[in-house]
Formats: sequence, structure tokens, C-alpha cells
Amino acid sequence: MKIPVALRETPYEVTLGEGVRHEVSAFVNEHLARARAVVIITSAEIRRQPWFDLSFDLETHVIEVADGEAAKTLSSVAQVCEQLARWGVSRHDVIVGVGGGAITDLAGFVAAVYLRGVTVLHVPTSVVGQVDAAIGGKTAVDLAAGKNLVGAFHQPAGVWCDTTTLATLSDRERTAGMGEVAKCWLLEGRRAELLALTSMDDLIEMSVSLKARIVAADEFERTGQRALLNYGHTLGHAIESVALARDANELRHGEAVAIGLAFAARLAQRLGRVRDDVVVETDAVLAFFGLPSRLTGDFDAARLLEAMSRDKKAHHDLTFVLAGRQGFEVVTGIDPVLVGEVLENFQEA
Ligand code: GLY
Repeated sequence: MKIPVALRETPYEVTLGEGVRHEVSAFVNEHLARARAVVIITSAEIRRQPWFDLSFDLETHVIEVADGEAAKTLSSVAQVCEQLARWGVSRHDVIVGVGGGAITDLAGFVAAVYLRGVTVLHVPTSVVGQVDAAIGGKTAVDLAAGKNLVGAFHQPAGVWCDTTTLATLSDRERTAGMGEVAKCWLLEGRRAELLALTSMDDLIEMSVSLKARIVAADEFERTGQRALLNYGHTLGHAIESVALARDANELRHGEAVAIGLAFAARLAQRLGRVRDDVVVETDAVLAFFGLPSRLTGDFDAARLLEAMSRDKKAHHDLTFVLAGRQGFEVVTGIDPVLVGEVLENFQEA
């Protein structure tokens, strides 16, 4: 199945299905005639997987970077770019990101800045990568001050979401990835009770279609539509940055988003924007996927408030995507005292 990302200047397709990774080489031959070399950016762990069997008719190099968020540093960018330069990779050559969201974020950012921009293709191999990170051209690395604080828009020329790769994920990775799927389900206004009737392939297709539609409507996040994809991410990113600073394995992105979704529902309810049923429905969606809907562990509320005020969507204030009677919207300037109160109750619950 192919889902178009209908951008005016750089349209491309997301191809979904079993075995679609084998279509990437034909795409390079057909659409990137001037390319002489392909550079796959991946990790040692991904390279060991049985499905890591991409091959190209061109000179092919592989660069291994760290797994997970540890890949997303400016020093990784420097090391990868130095290696590309040593190999003489030119602006007609192509980078292929093969891995989870962190690896495609790094590969995309390298492709955005190396020689001021080279073609990038993505083969996302995690749920978060397939339904969110690899689509839409947001590329970034992290700073100590927070996630994704250095980045660029650089659209891939194609994305291949091969469902074969999801079979080798650990249970924790697969479940955590459903945090982004839960976000899409809620943004689409679907009922929790319908989840039992929906296959994994249909959930991925629903999420990719939503993302493709929103990115096509607001590629550079100027009209506010794309910012809706940040639902659950204000608190999610804050707890992730606090957790990452002490233990890279403490929390997965999708788990943090799940907690952020539960919190955003409670904040919307506290602000009188929605009734209790939105909280109940959100918790039911998260429970279906086996995701957390409470903040447990050692998180200092003041530190989280500070991290949330540094969120990229914020303008020196607290900004959340919240449900309301007219649907979801970006709400700015929310009183930090009120957010702190909701947070205290959320942590104690
Ligand atoms: N991950 C949110 C976006 O791509 O806009």
C-alpha cells in the first residue's frame, strides 16, 4: 500500500507492507539516476536483525551509530559527516536511514546539512519510526537542555515501512511505540471500544495517513495544524529529558507520550474544556495498548514545569495541545500554578 505525502514542492510516498524494504533499491535506480553511492545509516543492533538484507546496485557503505536516543548528538553528526567526506560522498548520492526514530532523525539531519543537503530515504524499523518520526521531514538531534533542539526540515524522497521489521521488536519496544498510535487514535476522535476490532496493519495505516494529511496541510508548522501532532508531547518530552539525563533505559518515547496524553486529558478537564469522559476514554485507549497513564517514579514537579516551558512549541510560557469542544487546538499561556496542581495530583494518583 502507498500513502502519498502530497507536498507541493517535494511530494513522496510512504510504502507500507511486508517486505517493502526490497523496493528501495529499484526506487534509487529509477528516481536517483545520478547517484553513484548509497550510505546506510543504522546501528549494530539493527544490522544484526535477520531482515537487514538491503542491497543496492551502487557502491554501498554502512555507518553504524549508537542505538536509541544516544545516536542523536551533535558529535554523532560530526563523525558521520566526516566519514561521508572521507568516502567522497557527493550531493547526488543518497543516504538511507534504517532504524528506529532516533536513527532516522539523525540520518535526516545529516542529510539536511551534509553538503547543504543530500537525498535521504528512510526504512523505519520501529513503530514510532513508522507512524511518526520518519515521515514529514522533521530532523533533529538533542542538546543537554532538551530533545530535538537542533534540527532542520528536510523531507525524505521516500519512506518504506516494512512490517517485517516490527516482528523482531521486544515487547516493551512494540508496546511503547503504540504511544504514538494512541495519540493518532485520539486525535482522530475514535472510540476505545473499536480498538479490539482493528488490526496492527490498520492502526499503522491510520497513523501514517493522519500524519501524511497533516504534514501535507502544514509542512513547516505555520498554521498550527502540524503542531497538533505534538499532542501528549509537552509533558512527554519534559519527562523524557529528565529521565534520559539519568538513565537512557528508564523511559521510551512512546511511554512518555502515553503519560503526556493522560496528563493533557486531565489538564483539559481541569480547564473546563472537556468533561470527565475524555479522561476516561483516554485512559481506556492507553490501557488497551498496555501503556501507562500515570506518572510514577522520581520526577520533581518544578523541574518538569521548567522543562515544559522550554518546549519548542512554547514561547516562554506553557503551551499544550488540548482537547476542547471544537476539537484539538494548541493552547498557549496556561497558568503554571494550575499545571503544577494537576501535575501533583497526577503524580500522586
Ligand atoms: N512528530 C511531530 C511532527 O512531525 O510534526
